[in-house]
Amino acid sequence: MIKLVELQKKGKDAVLYTAAQTPTPPHGFSKGRVSDLEGLKKALRHLLDVSGHKTENVVLGITNQDVLIRKVTMPPMPEKELAASLDFEIEDIFNLTTNSNTSSVVYSYDVLNRTEKELEIIVVGCYRDLIDPYIELLNSVGLVPHVFDIAAFSLPHLYKQDNICFVDLGAHQTTIYAEINNQYAVHRVLPVGGVMIDEGISQAFEVDISAAKQLKNQNDLDYLLLKGAGSKNLLRSVIQQYIGGIFQTLDYLRAQLRASAISEVMPKVVLCGGNANLMGFDQILAQELGVAIEICNPFSAVSLTEARKLPDDAAIYSNAVGLALRGLAE
Ligand SMILES: Nc1ncnc2c1ncn2[C@@H]1O[C@H](COP(=O)(O)OP(=O)(O)OP(=O)(O)O)[C@@H](O)[C@H]1O
Ligand SMILES: [Mg+2]
Repeated sequence: MIKLVELQKKGKDAVLYTAAQTPTPPHGFSKGRVSDLEGLKKALRHLLDVSGHKTENVVLGITNQDVLIRKVTMPPMPEKELAASLDFEIEDIFNLTTNSNTSSVVYSYDVLNRTEKELEIIVVGCYRDLIDPYIELLNSVGLVPHVFDIAAFSLPHLYKQDNICFVDLGAHQTTIYAEINNQYAVHRVLPVGGVMIDEGISQAFEVDISAAKQLKNQNDLDYLLLKGAGSKNLLRSVIQQYIGGIFQTLDYLRAQLRASAISEVMPKVVLCGGNANLMGFDQILAQELGVAIEICNPFSAVSLTEARKLPDDAAIYSNAVGLALRGLAE
């Protein structure tokens, strides 16, 4: 789905004005890249029409395996010199091949730690050809790109906690983003998503994809894993891919911090994205990973204008609310 959330600052509060979504065209994105620009323009125009939004300023979240994220240390230096130095070293930092032109890469950075001896910096970049179609898309519908960021990087705006892990369960990909001591610890995009669960249910229950989606929306995962009369292999292996990928990532953090259990370093894992609404997914993950799992309600981080009814599938708006909060904090 394409999600649009509009917030307005009122004193200290971020007030929710708009929350709307529209289906992503079937071939709109491929692995986080724009692949059907015309289809996306149409969908976005529709979303803008139905949402009744007011602002044109957009904070856009990107989820893509090819985004480059590096932590580097540099000798202490003033901000201006740092920018020039990074420009000079960006090829090495990102390990760009000699025939890739540095001007084809866009990047930004943030200083994580500044001591007398060194600067610890996070550098995030991507090839321009990833970002240009997004700019064209926004411009074509009259929106103004204000900030581009990795979608998950804005999720900590929703929860004030030192150590936290977000798992965004999307339709085509799953993103794991963790912070330790309020700082970037890991960002990983797994090539597993809700469409694969749908496919698994379709085989297990011998029904078509739209009936499989309905079964997914109305039943819990235990039921879906046990009951179908058809082949359960695909559904089981898809769920195993989720569990394996999330476990591996969290266990890497545990090992780095020399802890004996994941729960020692990560008190809470927050599920975001549409498939966070799949009933019982949280319980299976809690059991397998041995950590507390919470389903994200991004609207608890904002104020509401009137007694407006919030959507039942609130978790689907997690990234959008996080990004809008980030926009207000700029
Ligand atoms: N109530 C629900 N129960 C289970 N799954 C749901 C529910 N509502 C939506 N979904 C699933 O959520 C997914 C859409 O969520 P979302 O909008 O977060 O994905 P996306 O951002 O479009 O995908 P991606 O992040 O992979 O690009 C679909 O797979 C859909 O089947
Ligand atoms: Mg998504």
